[in-house]
Amino acid sequence: MKTDLAKKVIFVMGVSGSGKTSIGQLLANDLSIPFIDADDHHPPSNIEKMSRGIPLEDSDRAPWLDILHGIAVKHLNTGCVIACSALKEIYRRRLSQSIESSILWVYLKGSYELIFERMNSREGHFMGAKMLKSQFDTLEEPQNAIDINITNRPKVIVQQIKAQLKMKTEFGVFGLGVMGKSLSRNLARNGFKISLFNRHVDGKEENIAVSFQQEYPELEDALPFDDLKAFIQSMERPRKIILMVYAGSVDAVLKSLSEVLAEGDIIIDGGNSHFSETNRRMAWMKEQGLVFIGAGISGGEEGALKGPSIMPSGDKEAYLKVQKYLETIAAKNSDGNPCCAYIGKQGSGHFVKMIHNGIEYVEMQLLAECYAILKSQGQTNDQIAAIFEEWMKDLGSYLLGITVDILRKKEGNDYLLDKILDKAGNKGTGKWATVSVANSGEPATMIPAALFARYLSFFKEKRITAAKVFSTTSIGDEISIFQLKEAYQFSRIINHYQGFSVIERVSNHNDWNVNLSETARIWTEGCIIKSDFMKELVEHLKTKDSLLIKLSQTLLKTHASAQNVAIEGIKRELHIPCLLEAVNFFHGIKTAKSTANVIQAQRDYFGAHTYKRIDDPSEKSYHTEW
Ligand code: 6PG
Repeated sequence: MKTDLAKKVIFVMGVSGSGKTSIGQLLANDLSIPFIDADDHHPPSNIEKMSRGIPLEDSDRAPWLDILHGIAVKHLNTGCVIACSALKEIYRRRLSQSIESSILWVYLKGSYELIFERMNSREGHFMGAKMLKSQFDTLEEPQNAIDINITNRPKVIVQQIKAQLKMKTEFGVFGLGVMGKSLSRNLARNGFKISLFNRHVDGKEENIAVSFQQEYPELEDALPFDDLKAFIQSMERPRKIILMVYAGSVDAVLKSLSEVLAEGDIIIDGGNSHFSETNRRMAWMKEQGLVFIGAGISGGEEGALKGPSIMPSGDKEAYLKVQKYLETIAAKNSDGNPCCAYIGKQGSGHFVKMIHNGIEYVEMQLLAECYAILKSQGQTNDQIAAIFEEWMKDLGSYLLGITVDILRKKEGNDYLLDKILDKAGNKGTGKWATVSVANSGEPATMIPAALFARYLSFFKEKRITAAKVFSTTSIGDEISIFQLKEAYQFSRIINHYQGFSVIERVSNHNDWNVNLSETARIWTEGCIIKSDFMKELVEHLKTKDSLLIKLSQTLLKTHASAQNVAIEGIKRELHIPCLLEAVNFFHGIKTAKSTANVIQAQRDYFGAHTYKRIDDPSEKSYHTEW
């Protein structure tokens, strides 16, 4: 998309003698918009001062800048060109205050010697060449202008300016890893004019953006950079840049960007950052005059390319400025609405994404446990794939579907799955989710169970050693496919109930006001945990009463199967922590009279921590000398 110059106020700036007036007039004529020479608007006192060879002070310039700001505001609808030295950043901020998005800066750049020579050849100008040194001493080169070398002829310069002004892009992608590349292609396919940046690392990351841009036809109009300043200058204001970098490098990237960005520019962190880090970064960026949005993005490489689920949060006003980009590239749910919605304040978007990953860990673990049970009954990978494919008819989900593909994948005559080492990795979000669950006080027991199953898998050598000592005497009755499917369905309900309960509790605690139904809706497509069940939850979560109660009919129907699968799985000494924990949690949550009285007594016995009494409604605390 080209920048519409007609509605822009173009400041042609630079030291005296750089050609602002002549270039500005040519440009305005070419664009058929008004030209204003700032020098015509100096108060007489300024003219008199400068004619006596006395440099202006900031205080002299303030009223002059305000007059020019007023002229700019008056021309917002028509656009105009204003030739103005605007030597300092504070002058430029005063000139563009509250109209930043309509301002374009063109910096006429030339050497002291060249300009001095030109000024000497000028007659009758109130600024003498000897003043030039004070101009250069005052000059603070702009970070956000189009730099134009004034050695070219004026007409060439005007063409260069127009070309660069029109080439201003509207959105930037910083970091071209797997996700960054897919998002870039998605943005371009949706018609957005984008700038691409990847750092330059000698010998490791060289010309990444240029090579990437040349590789895909949809990136034909994209502007590739590995020079940060050029990347920044290529975008219209306020800049909108999405960071797709590792969580550990976000702070360093923000520091480098804060040195070249301008007030009001917007940075979106699209990585898997920890929400507390996002809170901190949001505050730090605000101190820099910049805007920071944290956006969880789910869907992996394919999702990022074809339509991810996006969970943005932070300043709502800022979100509205990037809304069209994020919602356009997001997946669309069944009624065509984007699977992208403003989640809430602060880092709530990254928090919700983290819990998404917690739910994801459990869903993945449940499938691994069903696979374990079926394998223990002698089913082949193809047979298990057929069973899971059957389940897709009413328990359809992305993870169940890919597991069918995984089970069927052959390498030669062998199943690839059988060759994969059974040590699960993790990049950290499941751990963060587990810690957050513990901090929240919500008994979401399945996320930790899934995480620790991964941890246990990692101790392969210990398991091999133990297996030699503690051989399994595999006994037990056959588990029917029907019962296993019901146990799987039962466990998924518990998993989602727990996940949304954590989000609700933490949202209330932080006053984020996260809309659970809307969260479920943006998880119905695009993300890793998208499923038919998630679509059901959209309606269920529209009201506050307990999800568990709303789903009680299915829970009661499938509970016996879940119990039996747990029993038989235990008798076979299978490691099925999530299938077990689902039943265990269910029994716990439906135990009206628990045995926590024993805990309270023990605590009071050894630590005098006191206890409440069921025969005293006053909530008074008691202690007993046991
Ligand atoms: C997603 C995924 C993704 C996650 C990777 C690796 O929603 O697209 O959750 O964000 O980082 O799947 O996660 P683990 O290494 O923690 O399994």
